[in-house]
Amino acid sequence: MDLAVEISGVTFKNPVIAASGYPTYHPKLMKKCVEAGVGGVTMKTTSVVEQNWNKQTLAPLFYDKWGGETGTISCQYGFIQPDKAAEYLKEMKPITKKEDVVLIASIEAAASDLKGWGNLAKKCEDAGADMIENMLCCPIGFEEDTGVAAARLEGNLTNITRAVKEAVSIPVITKIGFEHDHFIRQTAPAIEKGGADAIHAHGFTTATTVINVETAEPVESGTYCSWSRGMTRGSSLHAAGAIYKLVQIPVISSGGIYTWRDAVERIMGGATATAIHTAIFHKGYKVIPPIIDGLKSFMERKSYDTIDDMLGIALPHMMNFGEFMGYLTRRLVDPSKGQYVAPKKDVVVRVNAEKCNGCEICVDCLWGAVSMVDGKAVINLEDCERCGRCWSLCPTDAIVAKIPKTGAGFENGVFT
Ligand SMILES: Cc1cc2nc3c(=O)[nH]c(=O)nc-3n(C[C@H](O)[C@H](O)[C@H](O)COP(=O)(O)O)c2cc1C
Ligand code: SF4
Ligand code: SF4
Repeated sequence: MDLAVEISGVTFKNPVIAASGYPTYHPKLMKKCVEAGVGGVTMKTTSVVEQNWNKQTLAPLFYDKWGGETGTISCQYGFIQPDKAAEYLKEMKPITKKEDVVLIASIEAAASDLKGWGNLAKKCEDAGADMIENMLCCPIGFEEDTGVAAARLEGNLTNITRAVKEAVSIPVITKIGFEHDHFIRQTAPAIEKGGADAIHAHGFTTATTVINVETAEPVESGTYCSWSRGMTRGSSLHAAGAIYKLVQIPVISSGGIYTWRDAVERIMGGATATAIHTAIFHKGYKVIPPIIDGLKSFMERKSYDTIDDMLGIALPHMMNFGEFMGYLTRRLVDPSKGQYVAPKKDVVVRVNAEKCNGCEICVDCLWGAVSMVDGKAVINLEDCERCGRCWSLCPTDAIVAKIPKTGAGFENGVFT
């Protein structure tokens, strides 16, 4: 069993990369990523745009205590100055080389300054970077001509990627964040056209900081922050799959990855490698080893020999809306009347007592149909309205639903 993945001739010992951001801001922090076992580390972005240099005053904040389990964090304003970045890369190079970790330099310039992109990329290559990542995902509008604002013009993506490719001999990744499907359809091919060796994408992350209702003010005066987990995990998974289908080059995917399961999901959804930022910031570097170990155990348990064996394998099961409507017809109860919804008497919901661990999650049935008998859940089919709450929440998949007439149902965590 082998966790290694290859992107344009560069081998990552595992597909877990520390994404560019606060946890990779300084060699002292990047070393912790290396010690935690990552396959790659992407330094905090360095920029030639002076206005975008570090403006940090207070430490960035988490808003969980007001906003629920969202992993919402404030912006850590500003990027590293180029000379400092070269110094950091030089310091890191012997360490990443010794530990077999890929050192990635994340760079930024104004979209109109193609020379600036090329020169900064070359500076980072000379300082020891194994790969360059063009940062075109930052949602903060420091400059109209940088970050996600610049990425809105496909021409910028092609031209920047091409300029950087021409300036260096190491592989080049272009990184985007996105908000809509049409954005992917325009941007991914434009990046490929520029000659990129890979695309790094994350889903929707731009958000407004949480309002402290006691003071009626946002927690931080700026309204921008970044979200992870929850919706970002879903939108980033969607981006990975959509890009995988559109282009031939590998996809690196960040956005809401906290656990080994999230990493496996992203690989099965089309990502050759996964990148993690907020989970490290939120939980500390100790979050990394369980992701790598969990990935390994999962592959052993399921007999996947390589990451490639899992790459994109969930995508054939993901339908577009037209296909989904066709699929729903499988559940038609009365095709002559186009009737989808089975009368409740025709839907059987039952608990497999052997699998039930007595957790009582299903007992909060809105219709009061579930009770516990001798530590096992029992469903009263008279009261049950077949809403699906219990079977979708049951952690052991002990609840099975079936429409005997059509064979359709819900078993072992999936619709059949
Ligand atoms: C506070 C903060 C700072 C970030 N800084 C950078 C950066 O300098 N360069 C970059 O390419 N991405 C940056 N990102 C984006 C992350 O690398 C990552 O792609 C994104 O947050 C999604 O992954 P996550 O959900 O694991 O955080 C930053 C994100 C946050 C929240
Ligand atoms: S949720 Fe599942 S495991 Fe928990 S009590 Fe109900 S049937 Fe049993
Ligand atoms: S399917 Fe819905 S109504 Fe029926 S027992 Fe489960 S939660 Fe209650």
